[in-house]
Amino acid sequence: MRIDRCVCYEKTFVQLQRVAERTRARSLAELQQHVVFGKRCQMCHPYVRAMLRSGQTVFDQLLEE
Ligand code: FES
Repeated sequence: MRIDRCVCYEKTFVQLQRVAERTRARSLAELQQHVVFGKRCQMCHPYVRAMLRSGQTVFDQLLEE
């Protein structure tokens, strides 16, 4: 399984990572001030948090919080 985006808002983690780098957002809440994602099912949240920690933008394992 390839997990690489917020499906509900069609935002890839690559796109979100670029916004995080440009805005220096360090947390999911900070990132949400600059780009709309993650406000429906929230399944993407653990992946976005991992992305903010590590820069990883593609995941092949299920992550839970
Ligand atoms: S996958 Fe991001 S809110 Fe549903």
